[in-house]
Amino acid sequence: MDHFLIEGNKPLNGRIKINGAKNAALPIMAAALLVNGKTTIHNIPILKDTKTMITLLQSLGVKVETKEHTVIIEADTITNFKAPYELVKTMRASIYVMAPLLARYGRCNVAFPGGCSLGVRPIDLHLKGFKKLDVDFHIEKGNVIGNTKSLKGGEIDLDFPSVGATANLIIAAVLAQGKTIVSNYAKEPEIFDLINFLIKIGANISFDNYSIHIKGVTSLKKNSSYSIIPDRIELGTFGMMAIATKGKVELEWNNADYISSIREKLNGLGAKVYLSDDGIYHFEYNELNGDINIKTLPYPGFPTDLQPPMGALLTLNHGVGIIDETIFENRFMWVPELERMGAEIKKDGNTIIIHGKEQLVGAPIMASDIRAGAALIVGALAAQGNTRINRIYHIDRGYEKIEERLSTLGARINRSNE
Ligand code: UD1
Repeated sequence: MDHFLIEGNKPLNGRIKINGAKNAALPIMAAALLVNGKTTIHNIPILKDTKTMITLLQSLGVKVETKEHTVIIEADTITNFKAPYELVKTMRASIYVMAPLLARYGRCNVAFPGGCSLGVRPIDLHLKGFKKLDVDFHIEKGNVIGNTKSLKGGEIDLDFPSVGATANLIIAAVLAQGKTIVSNYAKEPEIFDLINFLIKIGANISFDNYSIHIKGVTSLKKNSSYSIIPDRIELGTFGMMAIATKGKVELEWNNADYISSIREKLNGLGAKVYLSDDGIYHFEYNELNGDINIKTLPYPGFPTDLQPPMGALLTLNHGVGIIDETIFENRFMWVPELERMGAEIKKDGNTIIIHGKEQLVGAPIMASDIRAGAALIVGALAAQGNTRINRIYHIDRGYEKIEERLSTLGARINRSNE
């Protein structure tokens, strides 16, 4: 099995480009199934999860062509309505195909995602919302089977601003009869990217601070093209890696400021993080010195996906870091791994207290999920000595060619399967 070998304590320096956002690409690729024809999507990151989505779309009978970071989806040939367990268990976002299948064909059969390493992660909010759009559901042999004569607009007030439920429901509502209102919706930039894509293909969508309003249309435009926004999680992760190694990097971004909550925290600790007018995000080391409290929250709060790399960085801060994880119940799997490298972390339920150290020391460690894997790389790049990171297939789900891009910045990192 592939693993990374990292020789630490080498500062990252230089410039790389930030790729398209995985969490925007996945719902947008699924939403392209609404179109009875061809749709071209640019700036798709080519990583394990987007490849899984391509495999899933192909298994539904859709034609998919990939040219570098462009994916062309031709959804006029859907012959199958089933997302099998083998794919859903490796990627929960497979459930995004429910929406377009229900919208166009009135049926879907999607394996129930079940638990995952981050905790229970139910899909009750998705199903409750679809029911408001006139879908009947039942569970059969571990699959969620949905049927509707035709989707009808409805009013959905989400109990929690779930990213996945918001995406699934707005995709479905685009072709529903009448008007749908989704309130208490997720405001992550990737949701607005999905909305912009849907508007580009002909959807009628408006929103205010509390609700999204979707007026159903009867057909959508063929031959549209769209480019995905860059990945704020990748941006923050590479930035934290640079700071942890006492380096200085320039990350090619755009002019959108999606990471103000992270920038404030990093600058508050003493690092120098800023976005220049030319769309470059700068992350520069300066001694990290201070006590800090972080609470993960829905956007614009501190993102749960950056909690693990931020936690890893705080193991090297001259101060005490307290992190409350409020989104997922099981997102501290990186903690025991970094403890093996000498980090001092106390865990109490959904809170951890980190007492920063001068240096971590390389050790064999193991990734448990995408973002925990990123945290281990932060620790390993900064540590004295060599680290072997096992189970890097988790990391490959979310970061394209991470070892090549880190090598460009001067990291000593190699993939090996020996
Ligand atoms: C998405 C992101 C993931 C990110 C998360 C939170 C994608 C592909 N993944 O995941 O990277 O960490 O948002 O920003 O975009 N919940 C329910 N019932 C539901 C749905 C969710 O109880 O029907 C709970 C979840 O268990 C979790 C919380 O709501 O505790 C947030 O989940 P949600 O926002 O839906 O995250 P995902 O869409 O799964």
